[in-house]
Amino acid sequence: MTSTIDYRIFPGRAPEGTVTIPGDKSVTHRAFLLGALASGDTVIAGANRGDDCLRTAAALRALGVVIDDDGERFVVHGAAGRFAPAPRDIDMGNSGTGARLLSGLVAGQPFPTTLDGDASLRERPMGRVVRPLRLMGAVIDGRRDGSLLPLTIRGGDLRGIRYETKVASAQVKSAILLAGLFADGVTEVVEPALSRDHTEKMIVYLGGPLERTGDAVRVTGGASLKGAPIDVGGDPSSAAFLIVAGLIVPGGKVTVEGILDNPTRTAYLDVLEEMGGKITREAIAGDGPEPAMRVTAEESDLKAIDLGGDRIPALIDEIPVLAVAGSRAKGAFRVRDASELRVKESDRITATVRFLSAFGVDIREEEDGFVIGGNYRKGPFKGAKVSSGGDHRIAMAAVVAALAAKGKSVVSDVACVATSFPLFLPLLGRLGLEGAVTEKGR
Ligand code: S3P
Repeated sequence: MTSTIDYRIFPGRAPEGTVTIPGDKSVTHRAFLLGALASGDTVIAGANRGDDCLRTAAALRALGVVIDDDGERFVVHGAAGRFAPAPRDIDMGNSGTGARLLSGLVAGQPFPTTLDGDASLRERPMGRVVRPLRLMGAVIDGRRDGSLLPLTIRGGDLRGIRYETKVASAQVKSAILLAGLFADGVTEVVEPALSRDHTEKMIVYLGGPLERTGDAVRVTGGASLKGAPIDVGGDPSSAAFLIVAGLIVPGGKVTVEGILDNPTRTAYLDVLEEMGGKITREAIAGDGPEPAMRVTAEESDLKAIDLGGDRIPALIDEIPVLAVAGSRAKGAFRVRDASELRVKESDRITATVRFLSAFGVDIREEEDGFVIGGNYRKGPFKGAKVSSGGDHRIAMAAVVAALAAKGKSVVSDVACVATSFPLFLPLLGRLGLEGAVTEKGR
């Protein structure tokens, strides 16, 4: 029998203090993958050590790449794009980013690779990467004609394509660009709105052949990348939980050090500022493809806003915790154009509506989002018992709501937090909340 872990939350204390946020998940996946593709060594400092990123490292090792780890730094000994067949199927666990980006990379290899994942990942759409990779010449078999894992990808002779993605997805864009580095000629991706651009920045940083004009990004196949030191920078999406706690828990004042400063990831800070959140940002020094900053957030009176359109891709992972902030704001807080949330680690529209309702929030589900406080009446959240449904961001967003509630709460099924933010609980402890959130195995 598998044991499950619950969090018990005893509110009443203010989150206060300064913490350094661990490395960004998206950048870490890319540092492993592009480091493996490059020639020479890539030394990665401040990597995200959640299960998702460790799966990507393990997958690359299965493909013959040597990756050392002294507990502080990873050293990827670049294989210059030449990998070896994996001895068995590769299990990407819960990681959509790992599975999709790796699909692009193995599409460049002249042997078959089978990628699989856990029950949640097996239900997430893969057709969005399979379609363009097939157009490039990869041969892909999988469940439901290649729309679901497990997938077997045989690559090799790829040709460059021009591809317009239907959704703004950094995973799809990155899979195509990674395959494009192995393809004949130029590969161009055009997105409906800009999604996170870490792949592009890192390819350029490693000396790769990438250009951007407007909405289009292009790589030329066959050129080589060169390993370089990468300081990953702290994860803005993990920081969002601590920052929202600082804004909504009475007496809160939280400083988070080292957050990656990239507008395709930090748009939630603009949203919180627009809502009246007292937030300050200061640049700090770093070594790598992207700059970093220090962010302070303190308890604020928030007002609700409407979110939709092109803003959504740069906010997508923060929407559950923004909904918690929106539930403490004056007026009606609405999210539209966010149906992508339905195909994340869980259906995050339904999951957000479910957990906030349990905390006593007036929230209505819509096809592509939700409306909070349509009948505005601000009272404290009431303590609740909710389940994460196995989704790390839902688990942590629910904890933030519980910290601002009156009375004790339980958030169950929280082992998933380790996929992205294993230090979530210890960092809450460092913000003076030791004992306010405790873990209990069942
Ligand atoms: C990610 C892209 C986003 C995001 C995910 C990480 C990435 O997914 O939700 O957490 O690292 O490329 P989509 O590309 O599906 O939008």
